[in-house]
Amino acid sequence: MSGSLAETFYIKTMGCQMNVYDSDYVAQRLMAIGMSPEEDPGRANVVLLNTCTVRAKPEHKAATFIGRISKLKKRNRDLILGVLGCLAQQEGAEILKKFPYVDFVIGPRQIHDVIEIIKRVRSGEKGIIATDLEQIPSPGKVLEGYFQGRVSAFITIMQGCDNFCSYCIVPYVRGRELSRPPHEIVEEARILVDQGIREITLLGQNVNSYSWSGNGAKWDFPLLLRQVSAVPGLKRLRFTTSHPKDLSEDLIRCFGELQNLCPHIHLPFQAGSNKVLKRMNRKYTREQYMALIDKLRDVRPDIAVTSDAMVGFPGETDRDFQDTIDLVQQVEFDGVFSFKYSDRKGTLAAKFEEKVPEAEKAKRLQILQQIQKQITLKKNQGLEGKIVQVLVEGESSRGGQQSGRTPTNKIVNFDSNINLIGNLVNVLIETGYPNSLRGKLVENNP
Ligand code: SAH
Ligand code: SF4
Ligand code: F3S
Repeated sequence: MSGSLAETFYIKTMGCQMNVYDSDYVAQRLMAIGMSPEEDPGRANVVLLNTCTVRAKPEHKAATFIGRISKLKKRNRDLILGVLGCLAQQEGAEILKKFPYVDFVIGPRQIHDVIEIIKRVRSGEKGIIATDLEQIPSPGKVLEGYFQGRVSAFITIMQGCDNFCSYCIVPYVRGRELSRPPHEIVEEARILVDQGIREITLLGQNVNSYSWSGNGAKWDFPLLLRQVSAVPGLKRLRFTTSHPKDLSEDLIRCFGELQNLCPHIHLPFQAGSNKVLKRMNRKYTREQYMALIDKLRDVRPDIAVTSDAMVGFPGETDRDFQDTIDLVQQVEFDGVFSFKYSDRKGTLAAKFEEKVPEAEKAKRLQILQQIQKQITLKKNQGLEGKIVQVLVEGESSRGGQQSGRTPTNKIVNFDSNINLIGNLVNVLIETGYPNSLRGKLVENNP
């Protein structure tokens, strides 16, 4: 084992896109010191799990996986096991107690120490906990060739969240908001495009509060967006997530201005009742939310709007739930990710009374999802007979079929025997389904 470091690694990623970005960051750092990725955790020298704890479900999933990979160590004593991410931050010492085979836990703000920590484990240290939220992450250097062959990539533009929505664990596990310097972000975008990336998604828990000052200049999110949009060769630009409370007029204008900014916004509303929104500490009303949708559609009539919603927040009555349904029906979202409220230890809402029974939450979720499914289906069927632009991202395993997304982020499948990955093609939509569209290739513009 030269240089005392293992040669191969495996990373399993759970949770949101920010974890995907972080896992890519870790993979690049490990590859930069000569390690190589391994697809089978049973054959890797270092196994890492990047976890999520936003609801009980991903937390349980992470715990199950940690249990499973722990068993690998029984067969291979030299194997190094590390738990990264939000659950690692939240449960640090608990994880080590429950799963003694785990060698280290690293929170999201300290992943840049991963190599040093692996070295410490190699030299005999056990049970390392690295969960300092005050750390300033080092710049995300892109490894030569790492993104070659990929079509789209993420760039995290800011860490943390300062909003403290009453139900949410994220501010506790990702720390305070910290924006990255704009020149670093634009440079990263340039390098990605040079490696063949055609679509970039800028990431933050609330990109609208991006803020950076230096060299006599003040940067906000629309300014950053304009600069990234201008990177030569970038075909598509997206961002997520926007918080409705500070979606500015200037940002809305960008949708009418920037050619490569995709007509899609993910704008979580969470609940349709003003009483619930207030108790969630969301800082907007349903009326303000609906006014934003109108403005977005004024500037960009073809914009797709997706959202997140939660049912069964403590104190949510039938009437409140009806307000959520009503909002969903009025706005007609292109898609909604909906969840049952889940108590997160340490948050304000966990202490709220009037918890909604599990069975009632399940019932409400089913109603909401059924209604939204019909709306999404109707929207997708509305595209039948239309020609859409598709950025081809993959090939079906059966072959003969290609798959990609429209600028509005809808999945399109179509038949083709040639590999078109990375191309922008025109597809005539024949059928709209609840989760995707099917069509016929009409033109290929490589
Ligand atoms: N920063 C993003 C959300 C990140 S978490 C935003 O503010 O929009 C993604 C989604 O998970 C949230 O939008 C919310 O709908 C859901 N979520 C967060 N905490 C939750 C909890 N305790 N129970 C259920 N759903 C939750
Ligand atoms: Fe959580 Fe609210 Fe921050 Fe989103 S804005 S990460 S929901 S606290
Ligand atoms: Fe989960 Fe952490 Fe993202 S809790 S949703 S992985 S910020």
